[in-house]
Amino acid sequence: MIEGGDIVWSGQFGEEPKDITSGAVRHDYGDDLILPGFIDGHAHYPQTGVIASFGTQLLEWLEKYTFPEESLFSDLNYAREKASLFLDLLLSNGTTTAAVYCTVHRESAEAFFEEATSRNLRMIAGKVLMDRNAPLTVMDTALSGYEDTKSLIEKWHGRGRNLYAVTPRFAPTSTPEQLEACGALISEFDDVYLQTHVAENLDEIKWVADLFPNAASYQDVYAHYKMIGPRSLYGHAIHMDDADLAMAAETQTKFVHCPTSNLFMGSGLFDLNRVWKAGIDVMLGCDVGGGTSLSPFATMKAAYEIAQQAGFSLTPEVAFWLSTAGGAETLSLGDKIGRLEPGYEADIVVLNLKSTPIIQQRVERAESLRDILFAQMILADDRAIRAVYTSGNRIKAKQKITNGRDREQAR
Ligand code: GUN
Ligand code: ZN
Repeated sequence: MIEGGDIVWSGQFGEEPKDITSGAVRHDYGDDLILPGFIDGHAHYPQTGVIASFGTQLLEWLEKYTFPEESLFSDLNYAREKASLFLDLLLSNGTTTAAVYCTVHRESAEAFFEEATSRNLRMIAGKVLMDRNAPLTVMDTALSGYEDTKSLIEKWHGRGRNLYAVTPRFAPTSTPEQLEACGALISEFDDVYLQTHVAENLDEIKWVADLFPNAASYQDVYAHYKMIGPRSLYGHAIHMDDADLAMAAETQTKFVHCPTSNLFMGSGLFDLNRVWKAGIDVMLGCDVGGGTSLSPFATMKAAYEIAQQAGFSLTPEVAFWLSTAGGAETLSLGDKIGRLEPGYEADIVVLNLKSTPIIQQRVERAESLRDILFAQMILADDRAIRAVYTSGNRIKAKQKITNGRDREQAR
């Protein structure tokens, strides 16, 4: 039962209290599975256009494909169109909350928050900060990055359902002054997030060691600038030593596992079991456009396959939990989203469990919910998304998604 954007009751069909059902409209999905909307911990909305770019690892990929595309987001209209497309694609894959990187341009963040607001979505996002080692078209300065971020926080953080993340791209593209400014911002505004990348690629790690010779490790650079803590989201975190993990656990710093990206870019294999044993909260991220799909099923599948390489089988219950309630907890939003319980925001996805002939055949042999969910995470895609609700409103994500201008029709 949904009222005013929130869930007011949940339970078995037929057991709903009569007093709250009078006058209600019923949406019947038969045997479909109703879940909380999926939650993604790491995505770059401006990179949807460079998804599936051939033949490079991280540093060359940034230079060759990513920075040229991101340079276009100084144009507010271009940014609006791409933000709109990204959000429609996200919703058509059943994802209702994400932690999203914009570009260095203030406009890119304005556009994203405007589009998220018009759909009433709970989104976390921020303008990227980068003031060195990149083309001029995608750089700010330590001062302008700080000031733009501060005014974006003041404008957007907590406005409607929007939340802000201070977003330095990664240590190599920020001067020490800029990293210091990032640390200052998260201490000035104590409930904003910080998101960045760490220890993704071996050449990147060598570069960081050259740029910050006094740091004990890549993670230690961020620790030095007071950028770690319970609201800090570190993407990738593949090549971490035991001291890094102990530091992250102690400070409740969060990791975002981006499995399709790590495979696609040849970055390495994140050791989920090791990170969990160290006591660190983890969630999953699609990392588009380094990642290869916006579908949470594709992300779960790649996480399963990578875990298998280490002899560890990621169960479907845990994979779906990571993408819903667990992800919400990692984002410190565990009391607002990620569960179908009274008091939670009504972000809901309805899954058709037999969305293709091969899934249908597989599900007909399944003997448990675990097995049905496992078939989805290995085989399903956006065709399984029957309906999506955000803040209680049904979004007809099944229909054709074209571009920003057609959004009203598409919905
Ligand atoms: N490291 C710095 N920037 C990026 C990015 O855009 N994508 C990925 N995957 N890693 C990064
Ligand atoms: Zn990323």
